[in-house]
Parts: sequence; structure tokens; C-alpha cells
Amino acid sequence: MNTTKSFSQAFNDTTYKLGGNGKRNIQVLIDALANIDENLASDMYGKGKLIEDFQDQMADYLGKDTAVFFPSGTMAQQIALRIWCDRKGVKRVAYHPLCHLEIHEQDGLKELHHIEPTLLADKNRLINLEDVQNMPKDIACLLLELPQREIGGQLPDYAELEAISAYCREQEIKLHLDGARLFEILPYYQKSAAEICALFDSIYVSFYKGIGGIAGAILVGDKDFTEESKVWKRRHGGDLISLYPYIISSEYYFKQRVNKMEQYYEESKELAALYNQCHGVTTMPTEPVSNMFHVHFEIPKDQLEPILTQVYETTGVGLLPYLSNSSESTCYSEVSIGDLYAEVPKDKVKIAFGRLDAELNKM
Ligand SMILES: Cc1ncc(COP(=O)(O)O)c(C=O)c1O
Repeated sequence: MNTTKSFSQAFNDTTYKLGGNGKRNIQVLIDALANIDENLASDMYGKGKLIEDFQDQMADYLGKDTAVFFPSGTMAQQIALRIWCDRKGVKRVAYHPLCHLEIHEQDGLKELHHIEPTLLADKNRLINLEDVQNMPKDIACLLLELPQREIGGQLPDYAELEAISAYCREQEIKLHLDGARLFEILPYYQKSAAEICALFDSIYVSFYKGIGGIAGAILVGDKDFTEESKVWKRRHGGDLISLYPYIISSEYYFKQRVNKMEQYYEESKELAALYNQCHGVTTMPTEPVSNMFHVHFEIPKDQLEPILTQVYETTGVGLLPYLSNSSESTCYSEVSIGDLYAEVPKDKVKIAFGRLDAELNKM
């Protein structure tokens, strides 16, 4: 096959990209600040109208008493679990084997807080009610991640979620939501954010996933909980003198995108169907339940990269920015739909998938 460019170069050079909201460059901040009054007072160490108004707005949207803005979800969630463990006097929590705390945080929970996790369920499936009922008794908090990112953004049925929540309340186990992508799942459940949050004692949401901001997180819960989280935020060095670039951009992109989640969800189903029509390609889930899904290929990365590179170069359509091997003979990638998908002419998408399928059929 005649390919001249590297895979990532070929992707970057495409005119149209099927995933995301666009480049993560400085323009993202410039756009967010464009219409802000330059005399607006900065927040100072977690206080001031700018941060307090946004926290109130988010507490209201998520249906909880109070909210605290954090620089990162990593910090917010470790703190949430620490508080629930301290309250119960038990240094044990439960979560999925592939949750962010277990695989992406360098063991922060264990090293900084000496909290040990019980890993629930096989890593390739969701936690269910039975897993929760069979947990050891000495659990201070169960963390659920919705959607479960590392397995393609799968979601439990709402009834299962309600049953897990009721069981935890009955057993006096706190329930925390890793809702990094909470806004993205509302169209599937056909529920408001507040309805889903009502099932949980504490919730974290992110402003840079589907919302597409720069960074930043909100932690919500009752007043005692959030007040205590502010003390821990200071201990963690997260009480930056000013967080306004993150707060302003979070609010700006929240307003711009929170009501587009239904559109992204529909587009994600449309795109997954196109992948599933290609030879040797499947998506997980088969029909997505949010704006994200994983695409699995029955050939290894080093064989797929030149095929995709040629599709990108000949059609101008960038399907996937990267691939990861899942075994010696298979690879996969993650898709997250944002603003860009709607900008791609449908005939170009069709041509790109036609080329991909034709090439895969030759393998
Ligand atoms: C599911 C999930 N939880 C938590 C986090 C942590 O967020 P942050 O990068 O703000 O620390 C991430 C980040 O990718 C995530 O995907």
C-alpha cells in the first residue's frame, strides 16, 4: 500500500474529523474569555462571587445542597472517598477494577489516604446488584462510574441503579458517582441530572470531557460533606489562589454544550452503525448509550494504521486519531462525539466507510 505520512500526521491533516469538539489549543480559553467583563473580580482561595455563583448553579442543576469547584476530578474523588471512610471509621471502599482511581491515579487513594479498594465484578463487565450484595460488610463507600469508560462507556439499566442505591442506603454504605461524563448519559436514561444524582450521596462531574472545557471538576453533596471537602482541597494544594480561568471556561462550555448531548448521542449511534457494517469491526456497546463507544478491529494496529492512513489521505475524513493493541491480532480505539461530527458532509462519511470496508475485506 502506498502511504507517505505517519498515521497521526495523516489524521491531523484531514479536513474533517468524526470525534471531539476540535483542537485543544489556547483558542479554547480565548473564546471563553471573549465576552467577560475585564473588571470582574477574581475568586480568592475558594471565595468570591465568581466561584460561589458557579458552585450554586451546579448544586442547583445537580439537585444537591452545595457544590465545590476543584481543579481536577482526581483530587475531588480521592477527597470524597476519604471523607466517607473517616465518617465510618473504615478504610475500605469498593469500585470497578477499571475505574479511574484504580488504573490512572498512581494509587493516590492507597498512598495518600491508606484506603484499600475492594474490586467488584470482572473487569470486562459492569458492576451489578449481586456484586454489591456480595461485597464484604466493612465498606464505607461504593463508587460507580457512569458511563464505565474503559469498557466502551456501558451503563446499567436504570432499575438496576435504583436497586443498588436502595441497597446501599439500607446497609448504610455511601454511594459516590464518578460522573465525569454525567451530562453525556442523560439522553439515554431520559432523566435529569438531579434525578440521577438523587440516587447518590456524593457526585463528581467534569467540565472537560463532553463539555470540552480546559480542566475542572465539581463535587456535590450535603453541606457538611462539601464543607469538609474544602478543608481537604486546601490540604491537597487544590485551593489555588484563583481558579477563574477554569471556572469561566467551565461555565462557558457547559452552557454551550450541555443541551447538545441528545444530538451527540444520536450521532454516536449513527456512527457506531457505520463501523458495525465494516468487515471485522464491532463496537462496544453495539448500540452506544452515550456520545462514546469503543471500536474493535480484528486486525492488529500495525496492519490497520496504513489502511486508515490511506482512507484519511484519499477522503479527507479522519476516523480515529489513535489505535491501541488489545491482543496480538486485534486493536481498538475510543470514539467520543462532540461538535465536529455534525460538520462532516454525510456523503464524505459514506465514502470513507466504503473505502475502509473495501480494504478490510481484502485482508
Ligand atoms: C471516569 C473518570 N474519572 C475521573 C477522571 C479524573 O479527572 P481529572 O483529569 O479531572 O483528574 C477522569 C479523567 O479522565 C475520568 O475519565
